[in-house]
Amino acid sequence: VTLKDAYAGKFYIGTALNERQIAGKSEEEMELVKKQFNAIVAENCMKSERIHPKEDTYNFALPDKFVAFGEENGMWINGHTLIWHSQAPAWFFEDDQGNTVSREVLIARMKDHIHKVVGRYKGRVHTWDVVNEAVLDNGELRKSKFYEIIGEDYLKLAFQFAREADPEAELYYNDYSTAIPEKRAGIIRLVKKLQDEGITVDGIGMQGHVGLDGPAIEELEKTILAFSGIGAKVMITELDLTVLPSPWERTGAEVSADFKYSKEMDPYAEGLTDSIKRQFDERYTHLFRLFLKHSDKITRVTFWGVNDGNSWRNNWPVRGRTDYPLLFDRNNHPKPVVDALIQMTR
Ligand code: G3I
Repeated sequence: VTLKDAYAGKFYIGTALNERQIAGKSEEEMELVKKQFNAIVAENCMKSERIHPKEDTYNFALPDKFVAFGEENGMWINGHTLIWHSQAPAWFFEDDQGNTVSREVLIARMKDHIHKVVGRYKGRVHTWDVVNEAVLDNGELRKSKFYEIIGEDYLKLAFQFAREADPEAELYYNDYSTAIPEKRAGIIRLVKKLQDEGITVDGIGMQGHVGLDGPAIEELEKTILAFSGIGAKVMITELDLTVLPSPWERTGAEVSADFKYSKEMDPYAEGLTDSIKRQFDERYTHLFRLFLKHSDKITRVTFWGVNDGNSWRNNWPVRGRTDYPLLFDRNNHPKPVVDALIQMTR
């Protein structure tokens, strides 16, 4: 029994695919994906900077392959992400002279972008992360360029344009640190306001970038209940579990741009200790116990990467770390917790 089989009827088990994998350069990893997962999301190749680097240039080669792979294998396909302040190309916000564009121009660009991208995969991509990370940890709206130039309306417009381009696709709002009470409340305010304006937000994605100590299961549960309480499906969209302490915490160094990480600061350079392995297994078990408890509200749990070697965590908050955040190790071998997660469904 594999993960996707064990969780069938509960929720999809998804994974992010990186550009190398989508390009067909990692067969072993893709075999693992076919075996264990039944939902996919592109880690980077559908972000606006990648898919739409210049006004008249769209890079559809990798996204096409990504969607085809999902279809060939009968997977649930999620598009990530249409409107995000980060990884949005500079040209979006500037005219030929480098001046900030008007509200009208940016709206027209958003519309063109969303119509082209969503329209191309109409009826094939099941769900879209329409807006990503628009709310700050304190619950206020992020003062992104979209916000500054268009105003709060950009949120409503993004969902409208996506709905026009594919009326059947499910449309999501996606964000991190959703267990912080102020942020949770801010997201609820945003989604309710959209609902009042006649916009359907089908689901809310809780990015699951968690650590060994937090966020607390109770706070995660409050978020699941709050989001489903306003009629949204809940997705755990970017699950990974870092086992590394913050490098600054370890060294006592100041958080500064020129901070250099070195292997000597890597706490598990020789591999994980038994105690950390145990904590890792327990934490994933607790998380999945919570997800199973609410499987009537959660439609998909997606890991942010296939194996430990793929994870962005190795390069954040500084490059060159060795992290162990996922269920499969660098040789694509399942960690012991995989079996435990499978047993939990019986
Ligand atoms: O592939 C290029 C390479 O050609 C180039 O030489 C190199 C130099 O910068 O960059 C490589 O691209 C990097 C890409 O990851 C692939 O490794 C980008 O710089 C880097 O910015 C990008 O980081 C991604 C990050 O989002 C920013 O888009 C991470 O892989 C990706 O895991 C991360 O994912 C985000 C979600 O989309 C939203 N939620 C948070 C999550 C984690 O930050």
